[in-house]
Amino acid sequence: MLGATGGLIAMQKLVIDGNTWLFALTGAGVSAESGIPTFRGSDGLWENHPVERVASPEGFRDDPALVWRFYSERRKAAKSVAPNPGHVALAKLEEAMGDRFLLGTQNVDGLHTRAGSTRVVEMHGSLWKTKCSSCRRAPFDDAEVYDEGHLPACSTCDEHGHFALLRPDIVWFGEMLATENLARIDRFLSDGAKHRLVFLAIGTSGAVHPAATLVDLARARGAETWLVNLEPPANAQRFENTRTGASGEILQTLFDIR
Ligand code: OAD
Repeated sequence: MLGATGGLIAMQKLVIDGNTWLFALTGAGVSAESGIPTFRGSDGLWENHPVERVASPEGFRDDPALVWRFYSERRKAAKSVAPNPGHVALAKLEEAMGDRFLLGTQNVDGLHTRAGSTRVVEMHGSLWKTKCSSCRRAPFDDAEVYDEGHLPACSTCDEHGHFALLRPDIVWFGEMLATENLARIDRFLSDGAKHRLVFLAIGTSGAVHPAATLVDLARARGAETWLVNLEPPANAQRFENTRTGASGEILQTLFDIR
């Protein structure tokens, strides 16, 4: 009964004590208040192309210029915005919790790091790194904007006498997440399970796997589950505690750090 219209639930705090381990999973919603559009907010379309078209190996093979234009625009947009109070609240929480905190983000914009978060797993890669579409050279820092007439080629491949395009270091649809990233999250949840483990998802539609199933992994380890989202995501029923609204507002008052 309570909470159906807000009321007490709206005041409910997430208590963080010395025995609490917290894993936060963030998605595009966390950056929305910084001015970065979410994926599914615009029907999952970018210039009338489905997101999968500009974020998949097939899309890159078919039209690398289109894909680089998409990511170049995202680089430009991300450069021009700043972290919002939601990012800052998570950085402050990490400051208070130290190694009992881990942030897994599906965002590639780097805003969590800019807000001061350091224990961050960039599950879907980074907008600020580029790698080769062919060879195994290590991804490198890159904030360049590539226009249509200037697609970047791999110098390592060039030295070996063949041509390959560079691509953003993003985990695209149909690609695997880095095993070390998943292992780090898994290890954290296992360690946290020996204490009071909290799983907190923020600003994510729960539509993309494996991020969307992490809540089940955490539940299997006995985690308490919390959700902060503007609207109910696909996996909303997996959460015990839900706060509906803008993360930049809610996160500022959600935590009761003891
Ligand atoms: P989505 O765009 O799918 O979902 C964003 C969620 O954030 C929605 O549920 C919104 O209701 C919510 N939201 C919007 N504004 C908010 C706000 N101010 N506060 C709180 N919540 C808000 O984004 P993701 O779930 O991150 O993958 O999408 C997951 C992945 O799909 C992305 O990483 C990307 C995408 O295609 C790749 O690029 C590989």
